[in-house]
Amino acid sequence: MGTIHKILVIGAGAMGSQIAMVAAAAGYRTAVQDVSTDMLVQAQGQLTARMQAKVAKGSLSRAEADTALGRLEFTSSLPDAAADADFVIEAATERLDIKRSIFAALDAAAPAHAILATNSSTLGSSAVASSTGRPEKVCNMHFFNPALVMKCVEVVRHPQTSQETVDTALELARSLGKSPVLINREIPGFVANRLMGALRDEALRLYADGVADFRDIDTAAKTALNHPMGPFELMDLVGLDVSYLIRQATYDQTGDPADLPHPLLKDLYDQGSFGRKTGQGWYSYDAR
Ligand code: 3HC
Repeated sequence: MGTIHKILVIGAGAMGSQIAMVAAAAGYRTAVQDVSTDMLVQAQGQLTARMQAKVAKGSLSRAEADTALGRLEFTSSLPDAAADADFVIEAATERLDIKRSIFAALDAAAPAHAILATNSSTLGSSAVASSTGRPEKVCNMHFFNPALVMKCVEVVRHPQTSQETVDTALELARSLGKSPVLINREIPGFVANRLMGALRDEALRLYADGVADFRDIDTAAKTALNHPMGPFELMDLVGLDVSYLIRQATYDQTGDPADLPHPLLKDLYDQGSFGRKTGQGWYSYDAR
């Protein structure tokens, strides 16, 4: 792997901020860039609180937490942050037009050797690689929520991704303490979200058909299958907006009506009940 000194994460939402924290905790100088200073302030506050909680729990020393947080830079300037980045992970909004303009800006600002990865769960990286002059250095690097905890990272190649880029992304993921999985071709949902989607679809069907309450379906997943969360709790954690948009994007790619978001998911999405982040989803959450 070419030496990686600095990692840049684009987007200070739940995924971007935690991916950046993982990188900083693994010893990389890391920048998080977002156009919204509010998002940057919020991300900094949440990550500091997460690190403090780990110190209080004894899973991290105060010095380790301070050093990791000290390696993190929060900035709104993409060109400045990209100028000396060796590896970029884009975790911005799941909108193709926004991602394409980010990749064009990254291509202009980042050193020629830098790899540009997207955390997108819905868009194969070929959709953004074509807005750069370095498609062979572009791939997906898909983390899971919460990124500080979940071990899986899906590395997805597109037809022009070079073997060197794939190897570097896999090795970077390992150096972050993750277990990378290589996906050889772009397919909607990659692997893990397809598995999760199959379970979620069945759970929604059972609930919609009145077979069981959603709370009981969650209980069955946890106590019969040993899943850490039931499918409805997981939708609330991931975000009903994210779950809805993933499904809509899959439908947009396949045109198969079976891929449309379930009407119950659409109802919650239309109401703005996005799960934990809004305090209301399948379950209600105390305001923080
Ligand atoms: N953010 C960061 N860290 C969190 C967290 C969060 N939201 N919630 C919990 N944690 C951390 C805790 O701080 C704790 O860390 P520590 O051991 O270092 O102190 C650790 O996780 C365990 O937390 P708890 O003991 O409080 O709770 P649980 O043991 O119940 O674990 C969980 C919580 C890790 C969220 C667990 O319930 C779980 O694994 N759930 C399933 C998550 C999952 O399936 N994610 C994949 C979603 S799909 C996806 O992301 C794809 C995308 O494209 C949509």
